[in-house]
Amino acid sequence: MTPISTANLVIHRSQFPDQVRRDLLASLRERRVNHKFHYDSVKQTNQWLDLHQAYSPSRNDDGCAATYDRAMAGAVETIKGEEIHLLGLGCGGGQKDTRLLKLLRAAGKRVSYTPCDVAVAMTLVARQAALTVVAETDCFPLVCDLATADDLPEMFAMRGWPPAPRLITFFGMIPNFEPGEILPKLAALIRPEDLLLFSANLAPGPDYAAGVQQILPQYDNARTRDWLMTFLRDLGVERADGDLRFGVEDASAGSGLKKVVARFQFTRARQIGVEDEQFTFASGDGLQLFFSYRYTSTRVRRALADYGLNVEAEWLTPSGEEGVFRVRRT
Ligand SMILES: C[S@@+](CC[C@H](N)C(=O)[O-])C[C@H]1O[C@@H](n2cnc3c(N)ncnc32)[C@H](O)[C@@H]1O
Repeated sequence: MTPISTANLVIHRSQFPDQVRRDLLASLRERRVNHKFHYDSVKQTNQWLDLHQAYSPSRNDDGCAATYDRAMAGAVETIKGEEIHLLGLGCGGGQKDTRLLKLLRAAGKRVSYTPCDVAVAMTLVARQAALTVVAETDCFPLVCDLATADDLPEMFAMRGWPPAPRLITFFGMIPNFEPGEILPKLAALIRPEDLLLFSANLAPGPDYAAGVQQILPQYDNARTRDWLMTFLRDLGVERADGDLRFGVEDASAGSGLKKVVARFQFTRARQIGVEDEQFTFASGDGLQLFFSYRYTSTRVRRALADYGLNVEAEWLTPSGEEGVFRVRRT
């Protein structure tokens, strides 16, 4: 049979052009770039996928890959029914979700899948990966901004086969959001019968501050710089307009969390124009390009518990740099 050369993709209004434009203007006005703008284009999606391949422990560290395998196998074991809908939130290239789909199929489950991401290209890459396991008619790709969509429970309730229980993945997402903004949204869409697999980058070792310092080089490297600079270059900023600096900062709210932050520090004046709006950056001005919160197992449990989510089991990588958590609504 000739493969179908088109894909059906649903785009939520949170990613309609007028909304994306408003979000971009807000990023420039507040001088804090919304992370979704680092994944927006085909170029950025490919850059991130390359970066992920080069640096992600899940792709390069056997201990980490084995930890995910164990966590996934543990989740599959708890699923009793024959049908399951996998909802991949912030699916990226879909490698982890596809591994999970394979395990579900191997366990004799009938599976359907919603790859959901803010980036069209990323969603298509995840769909492509998943089609090696699920039929096209059982795959429902969705482009959506999880941080701003105000109807997530209703929207996801309409997807897949309505009566099937859901396995929801939220892999590597929490570090790049303010926990107080994304966790209520995530919690609101988890139903009592759903299972959530949640992973987070962790600060290794017993000394939290030292652990965060230890992982700094994973961000402060040429490929990450290049990926983050794509956003600025596309707006007309030149590399020589300033310096991209990485550091560790405390969260502004009283969570006690620390984060790796990348800021572009202008060393000469630059005007950025977005249609009829102009943003002026003087020498000495800064723009926050990126942040990544680092958690510990205890901090993950505490953050989830604040929103009625209970960690039933956890798997930590031998390096201590990543953890996978099986979670249910309390
Ligand atoms: C760090 S990657 C994690 C990808 C994948 N879950 C994994 O573990 O390999 C973050 C993903 O979140 C997506 N993303 C960023 N902001 C988002 C938002 N506001 N809503 C939905 N997805 C978002 C990005 O496009 C990217 O694919």
